[in-house]
Amino acid sequence: MNPRAAPTRAEVVIIGAGAAGMMCAIEAGKRGRSVLLVDHAEKLGEKIRISGGGRCNFTNLDVRPEHFLSANPDFCRSALARYTPQDFLALIDKHGITWEERKHGQLFCVDSAQQIIDMLKAECDDAQVQWRMSTEVTSIEVTSIEVTSIEKHERFEIATSHGRFKSESLVIASGGLSIPQIGASAFGYRIAEQFGLAVTPLRAGLVGLTFAPETLAQFADLSGISIDAQVSCNGTNFREQMLITHRGLSGPAILQISSYWNPGLDVSVNLLPDRDAATMLDAAQASEKLLANVLGEWLPQRLAERWVAVNFENQPMKRLGATRRSEIAARLHDWRIRPSGTVGYKKAEVTLGGVDTRDLSSKTLETRKLPGLYFIGEVVDVTGHLGGYNFQWAWASGYAAGQAV
Ligand code: FDA
Repeated sequence: MNPRAAPTRAEVVIIGAGAAGMMCAIEAGKRGRSVLLVDHAEKLGEKIRISGGGRCNFTNLDVRPEHFLSANPDFCRSALARYTPQDFLALIDKHGITWEERKHGQLFCVDSAQQIIDMLKAECDDAQVQWRMSTEVTSIEVTSIEVTSIEKHERFEIATSHGRFKSESLVIASGGLSIPQIGASAFGYRIAEQFGLAVTPLRAGLVGLTFAPETLAQFADLSGISIDAQVSCNGTNFREQMLITHRGLSGPAILQISSYWNPGLDVSVNLLPDRDAATMLDAAQASEKLLANVLGEWLPQRLAERWVAVNFENQPMKRLGATRRSEIAARLHDWRIRPSGTVGYKKAEVTLGGVDTRDLSSKTLETRKLPGLYFIGEVVDVTGHLGGYNFQWAWASGYAAGQAV
């Protein structure tokens, strides 16, 4: 590539051809803007392909700001209101993709997540979007910020491994840090810093939690056992399946609570969320049965035995006094675990934190400091719960910027 060759011009350059970037490209292209999508990955939409166990949980029927974490919880309101799950469903239906509703309003493809990628690619083609895949961005410079009502000047010059590009608008849609194996990078945060925008603290979210060594030694061999539990941390709780793994805890309940957990905090597990353990233990107070066998009527037997061995003595029920029974009942409803950490970005579904929303317009996602520069999708400090919310944020923020670039 000749570095002195004249730059290719596009009105809009979008870096990151993932969920948010493609949605933004479609909307800007439909408005007649010339759009160039740049991505360093070889394959398009890899994160969409692996999402939802290969079926992509592409949205949720019940999307509210309460389903998102951000230092500014109201920031997502505007974009989410202007591009709703029904809007995305209309697109899905237009392409004849069969979908199904699973629990908690989660919508999945029946066949394959690849259909979502193909749909977005087809929409980009209809909107005349240009592509540069396998392209590394080496630098971004601001060439001019002069804009008059008559004439618009190119503001950004983007140097890449496949030549230079000039654009009026630059959209950063490079996602978060999770799953670096398929192309995640800190690119977006670096660009934010280059242009003087704040980035809130980053950490892995929707991620498994690891046991401290002592707890690991006590429970790791129960790996594979899954129970319906209510888990709480930091004033929030989720009722879902919880899975014991060879490293700690996972499953939907733990992934959800992991976004609220911070090092040093306990996670409280209610092992019997629908039952009153005190009443049930009192009812068995005259029994010859061992405590673990009584608990085994409500919990998987192996878990009941280990939990009793670690926390109490496994005695016949009739030997347990009222005080002891009430201690056991309380612990069943509030089993405290202090995770040592998370399994990290290699396994996390999302990155919490990101480009500080105080520097962005909630309507267009444009930065206040540098007109023409936009941040959308996961790179922004807006993170959804598990259940299709992160894609809905990607579609909605991509749509919002797509109307403005
Ligand atoms: P996304 O990560 O999709 O795209 C970013 C793009 O930028 C990528 O194509 C990347 O290659 C590119 N890029 C990065 N650095 C670059 C650089 N330096 N130069 C050029 N390009 C660069 N959510 C949900 O709602 N439902 C679900 O079912 C799932 N399931 C799921 C499973 C797994 C395993 C993971 C890891 C994540 C999910 N998610 C999810 C989360 C969801 O995938 C995620 O929030 C969105 O893909 C974010 O969309 P973005 O477009 O912001 O980033």
